[in-house]
Amino acid sequence: MELIDGKKIADAIKQEIAVEVEQMVASGGKKPHLAAVLVGHDGGSETYVSHKVKACDQCGFNSTVVRFEDTVTEDELLATIDRLNNDADIDGFIVQLPLPKHIDEQKIIEAIDYRKDVDGFHPVNVGRMSIGLPCFVSATPQGIMELLKRYNINTKGADCVVLGRSNIVGKPVASLMMQKAVPGDATVTVCHSRTKDIKEYCRRADIIIAALGSPGFVTEDMVKDGAVIIDVGTTRVPSTETKSGFRLKGDVDFEHVASKCSYITPVPGGVGPMTIVSLMKNTLLAAQHKIYK
Ligand code: GUN
Repeated sequence: MELIDGKKIADAIKQEIAVEVEQMVASGGKKPHLAAVLVGHDGGSETYVSHKVKACDQCGFNSTVVRFEDTVTEDELLATIDRLNNDADIDGFIVQLPLPKHIDEQKIIEAIDYRKDVDGFHPVNVGRMSIGLPCFVSATPQGIMELLKRYNINTKGADCVVLGRSNIVGKPVASLMMQKAVPGDATVTVCHSRTKDIKEYCRRADIIIAALGSPGFVTEDMVKDGAVIIDVGTTRVPSTETKSGFRLKGDVDFEHVASKCSYITPVPGGVGPMTIVSLMKNTLLAAQHKIYK
């Protein structure tokens, strides 16, 4: 069994990005600039945004956080998006999800100029990704593909089971895994809460990508010997061993499953760091106008 070290790869990529930014600045260009809109005080969202700001620093980017209380109106958010769309210094921006219930998330996503949508959530980017055109690919699926590539994991003709059908992870990663590309070319099955016998699908899989948000869901009896497991789960569970009082737990019962796998991602330190670095990559591409002129 080999552990897939997302943290190590993410650190190396951040280093590569920082070198590229230095060269851009040395030749008279400006630093890439990412903005994040953060609504309310959800612990998870606060943590993710602070990690994104830290990664911007490490890559040599400028970053701006626009904060709102969770009483913000949809119109106020839309006005901010309009301002960021038209701010020439902002290369890309994200609106951290989830948003409070009184705000229509889809309306917010669609208000973002797709050329600045470094999260890759806008329907233009999602659509272009699904037919293999240049676009901003959303961060978690992109991070997963990068891990498979850097570890030379064979996906061609592989039976891949994706657990979960979210717009952020399940659907886009399924689409990328079936694409005629390397990595890609897999036979993909997407399982979800209404699937009749998830265990049976998993047992057959060469690659399992678990993105359900259900801690410890994938157990030993669901994994065939030599399978590759990518664990996207990051549920906060109470812990007496950490200062914060919680720890992150993946969708896979790592302790009992790991020894059966050829490769497996740990939680934390697997997919998580790759997600952030993929956002940095998209921001760099936006600043360089490499996807859209
Ligand atoms: N919430 C959970 N993951 C993400 C993400 O990748 N981007 C944004 N904007 N919100 C999220």
